[in-house]
Order: sequence, then structure tokens, then C-alpha cells
Amino acid sequence: MWPYPRTVAHRGGGTLAPENTIAALRCGLEHGYRAVEFDVMLASDGVPVVVHDVELGRTVAGSGAIPDYTAAQLEAMDAGSWFGPQFAGERVPAFDAVVAYCQAHGIWMNIEIKPAPGFEVETGTVVAQRTRRHFAGGGQLPLLSSFSIAALEAAREAAPELARGWLVEELPPDWLAQARALGVVAIHCDHSPLTREQVAAIKAQGYGVFCYTVNTQARADELLGWGVDGFCTDRIDIIPPVPVMA
Ligand code: G3P
Ligand code: MG
Repeated sequence: MWPYPRTVAHRGGGTLAPENTIAALRCGLEHGYRAVEFDVMLASDGVPVVVHDVELGRTVAGSGAIPDYTAAQLEAMDAGSWFGPQFAGERVPAFDAVVAYCQAHGIWMNIEIKPAPGFEVETGTVVAQRTRRHFAGGGQLPLLSSFSIAALEAAREAAPELARGWLVEELPPDWLAQARALGVVAIHCDHSPLTREQVAAIKAQGYGVFCYTVNTQARADELLGWGVDGFCTDRIDIIPPVPVMA
């Protein structure tokens, strides 16, 4: 049984707010979403921040790459203006700040470990260690996920009690052997190439199936009908959140 929310706001607030910001989390909440996916990368000083792109320029004003800057420098950078002038005060948030916001507001987290190239092990380790620390006092544990096998292995090494999902664009032929080796609880699939037969095969082996990024209600209904357990969406305005199945 999937113990997590079925509908998850992608990058905080989907396409309604600047991604991976506190404003995005607030926007998700305003739309009734109490579950969120966001991306975590390490700054030059090894401190995790919440951001998607390795390179600055798209959502974060500036140039260079995330590993070129300390967390303090990144946390002073504008991550909102690209989306609209009303978000000009939004900064690159620290991972710790995002977790604290989610915990304060009862938001469940799918924490995507998004390492810059070359920092896979370090990022997986740090994110898992910090997550463990944040949940030492209890609360519903998040689900860690990553496209990076090295990051997933490092996360397991650092905090084996934290559940992990393996992100794939296309389900590889040897997915079962890889999933077993990684000790993940779920496969997080791009929904576009995914087939009903693949969902059935994954479920038959006892793994959860989570899809990204599902932006129409019709496709969401189809996937849930196939047995998909949950998905993240950019369209929190048109896909109402579904409560956790009892
Ligand atoms: O975790 C699901 C999804 O966020 C993976 O792709 O590029 O949006 O981080 P991306
Ligand atoms: Mg992501």
C-alpha cells in the first residue's frame, strides 16, 4: 500500500509560482496541496539548497553554476523575478528552510536529490543526513528520490531508514535487478513513455509507481486507473489534490 499522498505539487507550486521557492510552497498550500516535490543541490560549501538547474540564468539571476557559490551567496540570489515582478523578493531557499516550512505547515515531501555533476555521492549523503536530523523528532518521513544511482546508494549508506525512489525517464530492461540492488521502495517514471503493462509489472514486484509530471486530469485518471500510486503535477490549479488512501 502506498503510504504517501497521491497528488504532489511539482517544484513547490508547479507552474503557478517560481519553482523551488518558499512562495511556491505557499502557493501549493493555497491550492490545497499538502504534498510537494522539490530539488536539492549542494552549494560550494557543501550546504544543500533547493534549486533545479545546475547553471544559473533560468530561474536564478546571475551566471555560473550552483557549485561555484556558497549557500549564503545563493540564498541572497533572486529566484523569483524571472517569474514575475511580484516575486522579486524570493531567494534560493536553503534545504533546511524548505523542510522547516513543510514541517510547520504539515506538507509531505518528495525530496529529489539533484546532484551537480561530480557531486553525486556527497549530495546523496548530505541530503540523507540532514533529512534524518530534521525528522529525529518524528513526523511522516519524506520519500527521497534521484536519477543518480550513486546518490541513491550514498543516501542509503547515510540513512538506510529513509525510503528512496528511483527516478527513470524510461524503464530500463533490467529495472528489477537495479531496483533490488538499490533497495528502493518505488520507481518514479516519466509518465509519457510508460505503459499499462510496465505499471502492472512494477506493481507485481511490490514496488510503488510514482509518475512525473502529469498535467491533465484525464491523464491522471488514466494512470491511476492503471495502478499508478501517485504523481506530481505542475497544474495544481486544475488537478485537485487527492487525499492519502486509507
Ligand atoms: O521528481 C520528479 C521530477 O521532478 C523529475 O524531473 O527535472 O522536474 O526534476 P525534474
Ligand atoms: Mg524534480
